[in-house]
Amino acid sequence: MPAEIKSKLAIGVLASGNGTNLQAIIDAIEAKRLDAVIRIVISDKPGAYALKRAVSHNIQIEAVDRKRFASRDAFDAEIIRILQKHGVKLVVLAGFMRLLTPAFIAAFRMRIINIHPSLLPSFPGLDVQRKALESGTKFAGCTVHFVDELLDSGPIIIQAIVPVLQDDTVETLSKRILAQEHRIYPEAIELFAQDRISVNGRRVLIRNVVESEGAMTNPLVGIPD
Ligand code: GRF
Repeated sequence: MPAEIKSKLAIGVLASGNGTNLQAIIDAIEAKRLDAVIRIVISDKPGAYALKRAVSHNIQIEAVDRKRFASRDAFDAEIIRILQKHGVKLVVLAGFMRLLTPAFIAAFRMRIINIHPSLLPSFPGLDVQRKALESGTKFAGCTVHFVDELLDSGPIIIQAIVPVLQDDTVETLSKRILAQEHRIYPEAIELFAQDRISVNGRRVLIRNVVESEGAMTNPLVGIPD
């Protein structure tokens, strides 16, 4: 099929909060760095700022308040229904603060991705920038990964490393990690849109990438030879 009539990747974004990652995806689409279309933004929090961001870019929204549903299964079934109604091919979790049920994962197997503010598999869960800082690690970062049934698990697509600086606080480190999230999340979606991703067990292989053997050191001590 000629590229010009090939349909764009239809994505659905799930967000609970501020939505800066959603904003980065919108910006990448508008700047034509990402060839995808956001068909729907769904939030479990009717007041989430992410919904306002979507509206201001003329993107359709749905608020699905968890309190209106008797069970997680019923809540997830409603989200699945909305995503399918909008023809979503890739589900993008952007600060969506709920675990998905196995039925949700099965409905979109290997078509759900998440961003997490640590170098997985280190520090799954919450408050991970603090945990990284307190651990004494010299490198933190962020990870885009496929979603499976376990928390912050699933094959890793792309990661960005952020050095931990000696005077870092949770706030300064979080801010630098978030800046990298905004860079790699649209890139990961574009890889998916270009159909360059394949998964072999836990390893994700990406066609036509430039790799580097360059290692990083933090701090740069520069001891003379
Ligand atoms: C980000 O740190 C993301 O990694 C995590 O939740 C946060 C969402 O931020 N999953 P935002 O709503 O995109 O600003």
